Amino acid sequence: MESIRVRLRFLSYPHVAGIILPSLLCQKLQLRPRQKIRISLGKREVVATIFQDRRNPESNVIKATSMLKTDLGIPHGGLIQIKKEGETLRIGPAIGIVTTGLKPSPRQPIGQRTSFFYNLLQAQEGKGVFYYIFAPGDIDWETNRVRAWFLRRSKQGEFVWKKMIAPLPDVVYDRIPSRTAERHEAVQEFKTKLANYSMPMFNQGFFNKWGIHQLLYPNPEVNEFIPETYTSPTLQTVRSLLRKYPIVYLKPKNGSLGYGILKIVSLSPGGYELSYHSGSGNVKRRFSKLSALYQHVFRTRRPSAYLAQQGISLLTFQGRPFDFRVHLHKNLQNEWVVSCMAAKVAGSGSVTTHVRTGGTVIPGDELLTYLFGKQKALMKERVSQAAIRLATSIEQAKGMDLGELGLDMGIDKHGHVWMFEANSKPGRSIFKHARLKQADLESRNLLVDYSCYLANF
Ligand SMILES: Nc1ncnc2c1ncn2[C@@H]1O[C@H](COP(=O)(O)OP(=O)(O)O)[C@@H](O)[C@H]1O
Ligand SMILES: [Mg+2]
Repeated sequence: MESIRVRLRFLSYPHVAGIILPSLLCQKLQLRPRQKIRISLGKREVVATIFQDRRNPESNVIKATSMLKTDLGIPHGGLIQIKKEGETLRIGPAIGIVTTGLKPSPRQPIGQRTSFFYNLLQAQEGKGVFYYIFAPGDIDWETNRVRAWFLRRSKQGEFVWKKMIAPLPDVVYDRIPSRTAERHEAVQEFKTKLANYSMPMFNQGFFNKWGIHQLLYPNPEVNEFIPETYTSPTLQTVRSLLRKYPIVYLKPKNGSLGYGILKIVSLSPGGYELSYHSGSGNVKRRFSKLSALYQHVFRTRRPSAYLAQQGISLLTFQGRPFDFRVHLHKNLQNEWVVSCMAAKVAGSGSVTTHVRTGGTVIPGDELLTYLFGKQKALMKERVSQAAIRLATSIEQAKGMDLGELGLDMGIDKHGHVWMFEANSKPGRSIFKHARLKQADLESRNLLVDYSCYLANF
C-alpha cells in the first residue's frame, strides 16, 4: 500500500494510546473505529486504538494521544507519512544519520562538521520524514531508542538544533567520518548489532583504491574506464608501466585529498621527471635513472601502501589539466542519477586537481560548453553514462546498499573517459560553488528520497 502524507498533531490524553484519523483516511487504510492495531515508528511499536474523526472526514490531520506519543516515542509532529504494511500501521519514515564526535552544545552539536549536517537535514522540509543524527554510543538497545540531534524550526521560524529521544530509525545513512573512527569499538559493535536488526544502512565504510580496482577492472561493462593499475609496485612494475605509457601515477591505496600522490613523466631526451605536492608547494625533480627515482620515492614510503597506475593525459583548460567530480545518487525508484558534475581545474604545477593544491571548481556544464560548444551535450552524456555504469557495477560488486557516490573522472586528449577514484563518503565542497546550489539542493533531496525507498515508504 502507498504511503500517505499527513499532518501529525498531538492531543493531550494520557489514558489511552490512540490515534485519531479522519474517516476518509480510515477507509483508505481499511481501518475500523475502535480497532486495536500495532503502530510502528522506526524500530519501536505499540498497540493503539483507532478513533475516527467524522467532523473533518477529508482532512489530512491525524492526532496521536499523548500516551501514544510517549509510548511510541514520537519526537515531533508536522508533515509525516503513514502507511499500512500487513497488520501494522507505520508512521515515519525515521531516517538516522550515524556519525561520531557529537557534542552536547546545541550551537555546534557536530563540532566543525555542524554546517555539513545542517545542510543535509534541511532537506527534510516538505518531505514528511523524521530526520536526525546520532552516534553509536547514544543507542539504548533494550528499548530501541536513541538520543539524537534534530534540526527543527523555532517559533521565530529559524532552524535550531534540538536533542530528543527518538526510536531507532528505519534506515541509517553511514557518515562515520574517518577510517580511524570506523575502528572505534562503539562503531564496530554498532555495525555488528545492526546486521541482526533488519535495519538497512547505506554507504557503509570506506573504499580503498585497490579494492575498487580489483572489482571493476575484470568487469567488461566498465573495464574501458579503468586505468591499468598494480599494487605494491616494484621498480620493475614502474619500469614496465613507463614502457607502455609516458605518465605513471603513484598513489596511496587509502589516500584522499591528493595526499601522497606522485607523478612520473618519462622525458624524451631520456630521464624522468617526478612531481608531487609537499607542504611547501609543488615540487619537480629530475632523475636520469628510474632506479634512483624509485629509491628516492620509497625511501620514506612503503611500496605495500601504494599503487602504480597508468597516467592519463587529461584535457586541459587554459593550459591546466582538469577532471570531474561526478556526484551520483539513487532516487526514490532506486535508480542512479547524476546530481552534479563539477570540473576541477588543477592549480599551477599541481599533479592533482584538488582545491587544496590550488585547484578551482567550475560547473561542468560551463567548462564543457567553453571547450566543446555544441558538442557539449555529447561529452556530458558520455561522462554521465560512464558514471552510471560505474556506479551500477560498484554497487553490484560490493553487494551492499549504496545511495551516493563521488567519482573522480577525467577525459583524455582523445575524448576517452576514465575513472580515478570512487568515494563512498564524498565530500560536499564542490557544492559551495555559487552556481552549483541547485545541484546541492537536488543532492540533499535525493538522499532523503533514497532513504524513503530503503525504509519502504
Ligand atoms: N592515473 C591518473 N592519471 C592522471 N591523473 C590522475 C591519475 N590518478 C589521479 N590523478 C589525478 O589526481 C587526482 C587525485 O587522485 P585520486 O585517485 O582521486 O586520489 P585522492 O584520493 O587523493 O583524491 C585525480 O582527481 C586526478 O586529477
Ligand atoms: Mg579523489
